[in-house]
Amino acid sequence: MVIKNSSELDAASADSNYDREAEVKAFDESKTGVKGLLESGVTKIPRMFYSGELNLTERSENNSNFAIPIVDLAGIHSDSDLHIEAVEKIGSACQEWGFFQVINHGIPNNVLDEMINGIRRFHEQDSEVRKQFYSREKKKKFNYYSNVNLFTNNPANWRDTLGFLVAPHPTKPEDIPEVCRDIAIEYSKKIRELGHTIFELLSEALGLNPSYLNELACVEGTFLLGHYYPPCPEPELTMGTSKHTDADFMTILLQDELGGLQVLHDNKWVDVPPVHGALVINIGDLLQLITNDRFISVFHRVLASQTGPRISIASFFINYEYKDEGTSRVYGPIKELLSEENKPLYKDTSVKDFLTYYFSKGLDGDSSLQPFRL
Ligand code: OGA
Ligand code: NI
Repeated sequence: MVIKNSSELDAASADSNYDREAEVKAFDESKTGVKGLLESGVTKIPRMFYSGELNLTERSENNSNFAIPIVDLAGIHSDSDLHIEAVEKIGSACQEWGFFQVINHGIPNNVLDEMINGIRRFHEQDSEVRKQFYSREKKKKFNYYSNVNLFTNNPANWRDTLGFLVAPHPTKPEDIPEVCRDIAIEYSKKIRELGHTIFELLSEALGLNPSYLNELACVEGTFLLGHYYPPCPEPELTMGTSKHTDADFMTILLQDELGGLQVLHDNKWVDVPPVHGALVINIGDLLQLITNDRFISVFHRVLASQTGPRISIASFFINYEYKDEGTSRVYGPIKELLSEENKPLYKDTSVKDFLTYYFSKGLDGDSSLQPFRL
């Protein structure tokens, strides 16, 4: 808990018997995640989930005058006016928001809906079945766990997650649970294709050759997380996902119809409203680094809610395979974007060094790029 005033300090010291480490350990050993807590009938959330920083005014700060841009990709391959319009819209969205949504992106609605259903089916299997998959082992190609950074001192989030690799070395089909296998493979394939197209549009929006970012290998790696946010009995005390930026070049997010995702824009939290059939695209830290701050990787978070479960699927474009040579690749600000007036702001940084720093830090709300600034 983050202690902010003397009455909170009193409350914390009055309960000096609280053993966070033991609570976290027991939770992790249950191997059934936050969903397991609900299944066991909790009506109050355990203290390890207290975020200790939220208050109702911060939650309700949302300003409806702002809206995340929606970019229509229909016709961009056949009509040059539509193409130019989409590139311009994407360019300004990436500079001002770091976020936009795309519609008519070519992935059919039934694939999106079935992917959400598949992730739901996995998380709603019997707890005995889920337990068999529960693991934090980096070496495993399919993982199910709650809170990637559970063993740091950061407040735990009200969320469970499954994860698998899509590229460069995809998780073998037989290692993906059958309840979501076919759709996970089909969705991943389509997300890779869309990712390739979005990187072309982003390259053009930077004034570069369309193939530029793909040739820089931004598209080389992808891993996918399927989040499950169970309904929360005390949503004002915790977060679905703490404030963070993404440790990648770009993320493509599919969210269901419940909402709760918010983006920090001009110091205000702005909702990313669910749009059926749309995908949310956001710029990650490494794209901010190579564009020398032209495109921004912005803080976002997910509120906990009494309504749920909420399901979302995040596809991260970065080579996440620690053993793969791609992670030793070094990135710095793109030379073509630099000039006398726009000097490099970042050191050359390897994917591995960046990821190591990011995951040692946890989702604590600080900028992950700071140590790599010149
Ligand atoms: C993430 C993320 C948002 C969501 O996985 O990095 O920001 O809606 N997810 O689940
Ligand atoms: Ni994120």
